[in-house]
Amino acid sequence: MENTKLRNWAICFVLVSTFIMVNSTWSASEIAGQGHTWKDGSEIYSKICAYCHEERVGPRILKRKLPSDYIQGIVRSGRRAMPAFRSSEIDDESLAKLAEFISKN
Ligand code: HEC
Repeated sequence: MENTKLRNWAICFVLVSTFIMVNSTWSASEIAGQGHTWKDGSEIYSKICAYCHEERVGPRILKRKLPSDYIQGIVRSGRRAMPAFRSSEIDDESLAKLAEFISKN
């Protein structure tokens, strides 16, 4: 009886640690890809940002008229649970288009 309990805890522990490991290796470059060229702001939004910002991980960012500079700053430096995106993932020009798309939609 005790052994079964212990084994269940062990299994639970392994599952939780695996889950944490998998999550911590999640990186922006996996979804953004290195050196990928983006078509426009709406493509970046739907392929990267919507992953969290439409799924209640992060706050809504559309329809809030957030200033473009503010958006670009957060994307480059990250903010708590939000990862930072480097220019190898979203280049400056694409980031400007993305920020404009978000502040106007
Ligand atoms: C892995 C999930 C995730 C991804 C991907 C992500 N964000 Fe975020 N974002 C968050 C979270 C969580 C917050 C809230 C951070 C906090 O605690 O303040 C946030 C906050 C923000 C804010 C501040 C919102 C406010 O209310 O002031 C902006 C702007 C933002 N993100 C833009 C973006 C953009 C643009 C992208 C796409 C390039 C993006 N985020 C991708 C999770 C994410």
